[in-house]
Amino acid sequence: MLKKLKASSNPSSGGGLAETVKYIKMKDTNIQNSSVLSPPLRGGREGLLACIFDMDGVLVSTEKYHFEAWQRLAATLGIAIDEEFNETLKGVSRAVCIDLILKHGGLQKTDEEKQQLAAQKNEWFLESISHISPQDVFPGVREFLTLLQTHGYKIALGSASKNAPLLLEKLQIAHFFEAVIDGNVIEKAKPNPEVFLRGAAALGVKPQYCVVFEDAISGVQAARAAGMYCIGIGSPEILTQANFCISGLCEVNLGLLEKLPPTP
Ligand code: BG6
Ligand code: MG
Repeated sequence: MLKKLKASSNPSSGGGLAETVKYIKMKDTNIQNSSVLSPPLRGGREGLLACIFDMDGVLVSTEKYHFEAWQRLAATLGIAIDEEFNETLKGVSRAVCIDLILKHGGLQKTDEEKQQLAAQKNEWFLESISHISPQDVFPGVREFLTLLQTHGYKIALGSASKNAPLLLEKLQIAHFFEAVIDGNVIEKAKPNPEVFLRGAAALGVKPQYCVVFEDAISGVQAARAAGMYCIGIGSPEILTQANFCISGLCEVNLGLLEKLPPTP
């Protein structure tokens, strides 16, 4: 069940973005009329509210390159994977993706073979992203990050990808992130909350004062398991555990952020 929310028209909240209509799940209560809306929320905004961003599919459209590379790899094994199955690959580590694909195809491989498969997939993925430039960040990303930074919000990256540092550099957005927690440092893949809890700890912010932006089912589950508010990027029919969903960061502004109810 969906409900429409009209974002605040606070002039400091991002100019033309303010009139965007959002679709909010009923379980979030009536955000527009609720008495918990007036800022400050979550103990105040000064240094207490942080945003943690997933990367693939949230900041940049690299999810499609992951999917193409996985499809190509699966095809070499005689396994067909479609968009629906790909939802289970989003947000999880490269090694776990290999296991999921092999299980899907009813195949077993040795650890060495799995490592070779992972290396091949990554080679194809790196070819795909070789052309990526600052113009490839999703609409509204740079503007929103700038707005957050200007208003003193803390910003972290929480990604399963080992290629995250490379992509942040290519996109020229690395300087926005006070902490980068990625596939090179985490031990437990999403939906385990480790990536987001480490992000919050690195920022010095309690989990309930963090908002996570996620496009993957496993990522939304990780954020909620971390005790964080989660804004899904994508369909609420797929990201059922997100507190609410938007189609992209071009739809979000500070007015909306300030009116989020306390993390349930
Ligand atoms: C996640 C993607 O961000 O990173 C997954 O959603 C991907 O699709 C995972 O498998 C691992 O990425 P990488 O770059 O380390 O292979
Ligand atoms: Mg993602």
